[in-house]
Amino acid sequence: MTNKRHLWSGRFSDSPDRDFFQFQSSFRFDKRLFEDDIKGSLAWVEALARAGALSSSDASVIRDGLTGILELGRKDPTFIDGSDEDVHAFVERQLVERIGNVGLRLHTGRSRNEQVSLDLRLYLRRRLLVLQKSIVLLITALVDQATAAGSTLIPAYTHLRRAQPMLVAHFFLAHVAALRRDHLRFSQARDEADALPLGSGAAVGTSYNVDPQLLATQLGFSRVVENSLDAVSDRDFVSSTLHACSLLMVHLSRLSEDLIIFAGEEFGFFELADRVATGSSLMPQKKNPDSLELIRGKSGRLIGHLIGWLTTMKGLPSGYNKDLQEDKEVLFDSEQEIINSLKAMTTVIESLEVKIDNSQHAATGLLLATDVADYLVNRGLPFRSAHEVVGKIVRDLLECGRDFTSLTLADWQQYHELFDEGVTQCITSWGSVEARKTSQSTHPQAVKVSIENVRTWITAQT
Ligand code: ARG
Repeated sequence: MTNKRHLWSGRFSDSPDRDFFQFQSSFRFDKRLFEDDIKGSLAWVEALARAGALSSSDASVIRDGLTGILELGRKDPTFIDGSDEDVHAFVERQLVERIGNVGLRLHTGRSRNEQVSLDLRLYLRRRLLVLQKSIVLLITALVDQATAAGSTLIPAYTHLRRAQPMLVAHFFLAHVAALRRDHLRFSQARDEADALPLGSGAAVGTSYNVDPQLLATQLGFSRVVENSLDAVSDRDFVSSTLHACSLLMVHLSRLSEDLIIFAGEEFGFFELADRVATGSSLMPQKKNPDSLELIRGKSGRLIGHLIGWLTTMKGLPSGYNKDLQEDKEVLFDSEQEIINSLKAMTTVIESLEVKIDNSQHAATGLLLATDVADYLVNRGLPFRSAHEVVGKIVRDLLECGRDFTSLTLADWQQYHELFDEGVTQCITSWGSVEARKTSQSTHPQAVKVSIENVRTWITAQT
């Protein structure tokens, strides 16, 4: 049995200061890597045995010891606790306490520098899938709303001024498009994490005859890292994950902003369900979109995590440096906040009511001006001239507070002789959306195809 208190005791005549030890310890947060750490060690034991660096009986004792620890931790998470420096030291201490000095052979030819990278890669490879599932749930809620909205119209805005009519479904699908890119971005981050770092040693590789390719296959990696010195300090997969998290939060924040605005009294296109809103302690009439505001607020925090982390990375010399330990808290916090925010947003969307009358009403009026210009273009007028003519009509209508529907054929023709009887029926909100031609447009047929595509994609994810 060992009575070592620290992984490096031999070199030192004195123990570390208690506060310093606490300061540099990571166990309180890297205990999340417990399962991954043991999984990696189990594979390492096999590799050492195959390399002839460990007898098969020692390997089997260590394997049983590790499996026992894993079971204990799974059964009771409070077991994963203690004054250990980090999760690697915890597992090793538990192992030696259980199986005696044989346990001291586990770390042969291995460094915590590669071990922590391995653990984090294993962790992300399983957790990013969970995160992606939450994105799929939100996308499902959005596409359900798109379907339910049917032919309901809403204004599309540019510069937050009414621009042109569109289907409400098109609005929901716009957010789906962004979220699908997020989903893809997490797959890409996962691919980056998909390389085995074991065999890198502390910096220059291991002197034991382990087979990294075989280890990679056993641990489910598709490849081995290229360079040991790079591998012990490469956290690009962390940066990419934090970037994917930040951008997802930017998208959730923009969706929040849309809903906060559109569900407010001034717009009134949507109604938030009572169960996702809060009241005021003072003003009885208030119904506040706190859930959405919090998501919008948290986006700042996650962007901060990304920027902070990149700043930490940028000054590091080659090889492992303890600064790298800072990767975990931002990563775990981002993951947690993403999961919570996606869940909250999914509930908001599922329970959202479209106020059809308000949105339809707002999608009529002067926002048909472009259609009027197109009408003239279709009859031969150059677009710039048509723009000029319609601009004049709009100016006159604004002056007397009217819109296109108030114009008689004679009125139209005063502005241009190319206006004919068709104009009064042609210039409608529905006519406007139906006039769209491209696959990415709000044309009802294009939107229908888009909904089908998203549903096919959702099915392929499950
Ligand atoms: N807790 C450390 C981290 O998160 C593990 C690696 C420690 N390596 C070392 N040489 N001190 O990065």
